[in-house]
Amino acid sequence: MNKKEIISVLEKIIPPSQIKNINIFGSELVIDLNIDNPSLHAKKKLEKTIISSFDENLKIIVNFNIEKKRTASNNKNKLVGIDNIIAISSGKGGVGKSTITSNLAASLSKMGFKVGILDSDIYGPSIPTMFDVESSRPASVKIDNKSMIEPIESYGVKILSIGFFTEPNQAVIWRGPMASKALNQMIFDTNWGELDFLLVDLPPGTGDIHLSIVQSIPLNGAIVVSTPQKVALLDAKRGISMFNQKNIDVPVLGLIENMAYFVPEDMPKKKYFIFGKDGVKNLADDSNVPFLGLVPLFKSIREASDFGHPASLQVNSLISKSFEEIAKNVVSSVVERNNHLPPTKIVKITTMAGCSAIKNK
Ligand SMILES: Nc1ncnc2c1ncn2[C@@H]1O[C@H](COP(=O)(O)OP(=O)(O)OP(=O)(O)O)[C@@H](O)[C@H]1O
Ligand SMILES: [Mg+2]
Repeated sequence: MNKKEIISVLEKIIPPSQIKNINIFGSELVIDLNIDNPSLHAKKKLEKTIISSFDENLKIIVNFNIEKKRTASNNKNKLVGIDNIIAISSGKGGVGKSTITSNLAASLSKMGFKVGILDSDIYGPSIPTMFDVESSRPASVKIDNKSMIEPIESYGVKILSIGFFTEPNQAVIWRGPMASKALNQMIFDTNWGELDFLLVDLPPGTGDIHLSIVQSIPLNGAIVVSTPQKVALLDAKRGISMFNQKNIDVPVLGLIENMAYFVPEDMPKKKYFIFGKDGVKNLADDSNVPFLGLVPLFKSIREASDFGHPASLQVNSLISKSFEEIAKNVVSSVVERNNHLPPTKIVKITTMAGCSAIKNK
């Protein structure tokens, strides 16, 4: 086969612009490709398709070059250095937003992405506990003569929490504009450096305060977490419709089913569908949004969270595999969104003497 014939085979599989280089060494064919989906699953799938398209006597080596710009960056008006800001939301409280946020962040970081978490839960910030940095206080650094907040790093994830700036046992009563202003500062005045993903752990609910938070952050998309039970699903539906509202218009990247079933530690083959079966998957199908995966109810997930070491950091366990699967699906969904939808508009809230004015930047 000559180069032209090889290219015509490859063009049936991937766009020509992604074929970077082809080298033939006797019966060895080396193909260099640019790809925008860095997940191992996507690479393996593509490699398999390519190998099966050529004569089996040819030894085929496929090298992948991840095109970072195409992978993530979508915003012309994006924050310097942060490619994708994703909200993790639910409607109902206690369904596992913070647990999913922390484990997903750890899995993405393990996959080689640069990840940050912004814990915006004004009612009960829990990310610092889940990353064992409860008593940390962010320092201030001067960057280009401007004072910036330095996030706290734990297990390779950069963390900033509203909890770092409030007294642990003191209830703070936040109003929408106040919370939005604080979060704006935590995004724009923080030395995040280069990030592929900034996950924003939202407080539970879909009230006024959520609208102001969601409007104040230039989100690329939102992930909705729910348990499969009816009352949680109703709230998840409300969550989806909040993001779909005209003045919000944040794409829902997908749904995650948490506490999908319970596995007793002494009977690891048993599954108990405590909150019902497939509820979130069915909601995803009905709402026409991707289903990103499920996480079982495991005692060790709760223990790892309380201990401050995300369970997804375990090596090769059922839990870490569940989160890896979800992380890959999240990356695919973000890539899909960035390839097909226009950049997120930054809607910035400025607060003056208690009044808020929303303006497009
Ligand atoms: N898959 C799971 N297996 C075991 N325990 C879990 C799982 N998911 C969450 N939990 C536990 O359930 C409790 C609630 O989880 P989490 O704090 O993540 O929920 P949340 O939605 O963030 O809550 P809130 O609405 O208060 O912010 C925590 O104690 C957490 O450790
Ligand atoms: Mg939470």
